[in-house]
Amino acid sequence: MANSSRAPGRSRRLRAALVVSAAVGLLATAGAVVLPGSASAASTLGASAAERGRYFGTAVAVSRLNDSAYTTILNREFNQVTAENEMKIDALQPNQGQFNYGNADRLVQHARSQGMLVRGHTLAWHSQQPGWMQNMSGTTLRNAMLNHVTQVATHFRGQIEWWDVVNEAFQDGSSGARRDSNLQRTGNDWIEAAFRAARQADPNADLCYNDYNIDNWNDAKTQAVYRMVQDFKSRGVPIDCVGLQSHFTGGSNYPSNYRTTLSSFAALGVDVHITELDIRNAPTDAYRNVVNDCLAVARCKGITVWGIRDSDSWRSSENPLLFNGSGQKKPAYDAVLAALNNGTAPPTGNPTTPPPGAGCTATVTPGQVWGDRYNTSVTVSGASTWSVVVAITAPQKISSTWSGNPTWDSSGNVMTMRSNGSGNTFGFTTMMNGNSSARPQIRSCTAG
Ligand code: XIL
Repeated sequence: MANSSRAPGRSRRLRAALVVSAAVGLLATAGAVVLPGSASAASTLGASAAERGRYFGTAVAVSRLNDSAYTTILNREFNQVTAENEMKIDALQPNQGQFNYGNADRLVQHARSQGMLVRGHTLAWHSQQPGWMQNMSGTTLRNAMLNHVTQVATHFRGQIEWWDVVNEAFQDGSSGARRDSNLQRTGNDWIEAAFRAARQADPNADLCYNDYNIDNWNDAKTQAVYRMVQDFKSRGVPIDCVGLQSHFTGGSNYPSNYRTTLSSFAALGVDVHITELDIRNAPTDAYRNVVNDCLAVARCKGITVWGIRDSDSWRSSENPLLFNGSGQKKPAYDAVLAALNNGTAPPTGNPTTPPPGAGCTATVTPGQVWGDRYNTSVTVSGASTWSVVVAITAPQKISSTWSGNPTWDSSGNVMTMRSNGSGNTFGFTTMMNGNSSARPQIRSCTAG
């Protein structure tokens, strides 16, 4: 209901903003030397991402907006911002009932004046709580949390594209359990209560769950967050997106199955965002891989790095960012820009001009789940004849299909479903065979 009727408006707003910043990027390149005959490549991160229907953003520390070297890079390169600390609970409500929006409003004003999209971070979190909240528990805390969500989301209504409604609510390690916190102790439904309050306060913002160490598809924490999102979608809890912080260090490296993680979350019917990217020593290959993985997943909306220069980073001794302390572009910057420029736009769903190899969009709707099997339906938009490639994780196996003509690769795990004239929605049943957490991934949608 509210969900589907809001979706077009939101994506239109995002597209419009990105088109504007792409145009700004093009104007900026107009003055540059373009070799005759060469394709013109965008020369900034934001402009290049925008050409691919994505954003490229950064965390901003509001106090640094007075540093012109910092602001010059910010305004030139980025088309999205997240407040590094200024929209956290302790910053916005230092005393109970007393809201302090000055710094956050300054960032929002700056972003709006530059055509940048704003990610709100974060409405409910166990960390960076003001002292008065840290000391609360039970119903008093639950109500104070919900009041904070409502007040803050209402204050910023119309100015925030995405809210990190809840941040870091799961434990690290193998348990797959929720993180113990004063908020968790108010009852397991605190997360969905926060999402419902946020939707009510700002129906036009996309609502995200955000966490770290959910990058590796095999990690128990990733699987636990996946199951929560799946559960929320199946019960109509208003969630639109998942944010992967992606702070890559020695403890949690860029995982080779990162793309699987992104596409698996996306297959649940949520957008995915890379929200706080920084990588120890800024290796070019890991940065390039992250960009390529995002571009490969249509629902990956964009990438935010957690700061501009290494000297701005919360992990400054690790030099994890794209600019050095003097504001010069590092090799990782060049790798990221090249990967963006080499990337393709996601399928547009435009039936008249399908881009080569795409031309339609396949959207997954999870269906009924039984003890040993589950149903999935897939709806294609943008083409009336199509083929959709779906991959299943062994030992799971598709046992029956409907409303399409399936063929299989030799492994039996990759199905190509072709339209058979019975409409634009097909479905299938998957036997779990002992793996109850994996879910089908859409590999591609091809028109014709
Ligand atoms: C960090 C900030 O970068 C620091 O300035 C602050 O002292 C602590 O928080 N996950 C998050 C971010 O969601 O809010 C954190 O930001 C980094 C980890």
